Order: sequence, then structure tokens, then C-alpha cells
Amino acid sequence: MLEQLSQLEKESLAALEAVKDSGALAEWNRRYLGKKGALTQMLRSVGQLPKEERPAFGQAANKVKVALEAAYEARMEELRLADTAQELERGAVDVTLPGRPIGPGHLHITTQTLRQIYAIFAQMGFQVYESPDVETDEMNFELLNMPPHHPARDMWDTFWVSDEASAGSAQGVLLRTHTSPGQIRVMRERCPEPIRVILPGKCYRYEQITARAEHQFYQVEGLAVGHGISMTDLIGTLTEFAHRFYGAEGRIRIRSSYFPFTEPSIEADIDCIICHGEGCRVCKYSGWLEVCGAGMVHPVVLENGGYDPEEWSGFAFGLGVERPAMLKYDIDDIRLFYGNDLRFLRQF
Ligand code: DAH
Repeated sequence: MLEQLSQLEKESLAALEAVKDSGALAEWNRRYLGKKGALTQMLRSVGQLPKEERPAFGQAANKVKVALEAAYEARMEELRLADTAQELERGAVDVTLPGRPIGPGHLHITTQTLRQIYAIFAQMGFQVYESPDVETDEMNFELLNMPPHHPARDMWDTFWVSDEASAGSAQGVLLRTHTSPGQIRVMRERCPEPIRVILPGKCYRYEQITARAEHQFYQVEGLAVGHGISMTDLIGTLTEFAHRFYGAEGRIRIRSSYFPFTEPSIEADIDCIICHGEGCRVCKYSGWLEVCGAGMVHPVVLENGGYDPEEWSGFAFGLGVERPAMLKYDIDDIRLFYGNDLRFLRQF
């Protein structure tokens, strides 16, 4: 019997060694330590032994039981660790593999257009000057020759930042409706030096969004102040710009217009770059495309900027940015610019 016992111990330990997963381990446990397991059977058969052999056998059998149970626990722990290691290996990240390339991206069509405009005016000696998006009513309207209740204010539907009570009064704060308030800021900063700057920036209007109008868009304001600046300087500058920007050789046309901050005020057109004056959908069959609003700086505005209108004169203009880009690239909906559709943006 004792021999059988030691045989069983050897056999079961060897079998445990061969166990490779938790299923086989459970099976092993049933076979040797379970209710009907080999060791249990052997312990039960103690009664068949002669009385004097029983204690020795009982002790020996218990020792084997303890040893097998300990071996079982140890094997279980080993398998658990092996499982974890395998799991880690399966989900492992190979940090030496090359990463996925990140597309380099490129400049937005508006930024590209702005830079083309900067470059053209830089060659004519204009510096870039930036002024704030959030403005006062005073800068955006009053100092530009539009006191409260001036009817021309209706040309610019306004997003007010301050509350309703102050809207339209000197205390009002707003999102600038045009880049023109920058004129006052440059003049006050540079006075009494001559000025030649462009003022690019975003403008905001409380308007219905359509294919032709967004409520946020860019403008580039231009301002020149000096001695003896005249309308011919303005027309020459605009002609040069139009020719360089649109690559056109065409004529420029000046129409009379009205803006409160210029006197006289004009609008400049060029020959339609699509049909060259024949008449098409883009120029609405007029043969002409509008370039910008402009004029000679109003004496009141010069004075508000600190310049004596008896001695100084100047011209100003306000260019759109998206509209010229639409013409140049034949884009028929301004909403595409800020709709963030990469299929559109990647084309430029
Ligand atoms: N600020 C005008 C607008 O947004 C555009 C403009 C017209 C600007 C004439 C000027 C100017 O500087 O002289 O409609």
C-alpha cells in the first residue's frame, strides 16, 4: 500500500507538470484530489489494512495529500502568470514601427488671398497694421462721421456686445462691422507722420447668410495720409492692385458713391475677368466687376485722427477678401469658405 501511495504521488506530480491550461488543471484536480479521485479512494481504503499498519499509512497518505494540494496551488499560480504574459504579448505595441504619416496641411484659401494682397501692397510701400475686432461705437461709427441716429448707420447691421440700452450710443461696444475704425487708430498713433498702411481683419454683420453673404468675413482697409494726396493717387493705386491681383490688363471704371467717411466717395470696377466685358453670369451681364469702395478721407475723419485737413489729405479704400477669391477661382458660394469641408479646402 505504501508503495502504491508513493507511486501515485510520483505519477500525479508528473501529470501536473504536463498540465498546460486551466481546463487541464481542473481535470487533474478531479482525478487525484476530487471526491472520486485516486488519492481520496486510497485514503478510504485504510479500513482494509491490518490495524497496526493503519496509523503509518494514514500519516503517509495525509502527507501526500498536503504535498499534492500545495503543488496544485503552485501550478495554478504559474499558469495564471503565463496567461498574463501571453495576454500582454498579444496586445503589445511595437514602438519601433514607423508611425502613420500626418498630412502637412496647407494655408486656408482666405489666408492665401490675404497674403497675395499684402504682397501687392507691400510693393507699393504699404505696411500692415492690425486693429481690434471688438470695437466701440465711437470708433466704428462716430469718429467716422456717423453720430448716433445717422441714417448711414443702416448700411451696417451690427452685432452688439454691450446690452441693448447702450446700442447705438457712445457707450456701445460692438463687433466691428468694417475695418474702417482702424483708420482712426492708426492716425492717432502715427500723427503727425505721413501714413501708408493696409488694415486687414475680420468683420461681422448681423445679416442673413446666403451664397453671397456671410456674417463673418474679411476686409482689407487701405489708408494713405500725406501732403497733396489726390484722387489720381487713389485711382492709380487701385488700378495697380486690380491689374496685379487679377492679372488683368483691362480697364478700370470709377463710379460715384457715398460713404460717410470719404468725400468724394467712389466705387471702382474692372472689366469682368471671365467674359472680358462681353457680359456673363458672374458680372450679371454688366461686363464689370466691383473691386472696392473708396474715396478721399473726409476732413472730419482726418481731424478726428489728429490731422489738420487744411494741411493734410488722404485716400482710403475697403476691399473684400472672399469676394475677389471667389471671382479668381470661380467659387459660387461664400459659405464654402468656413464650412470646413476638406474636399473644398484641399483644392487651393
Ligand atoms: N467700410 C466700407 C464698408 O465696409 C468700405 C469702405 C468704403 C472703406 C470706402 C473705405 C472707403 O475706406 O473709403 O462697406
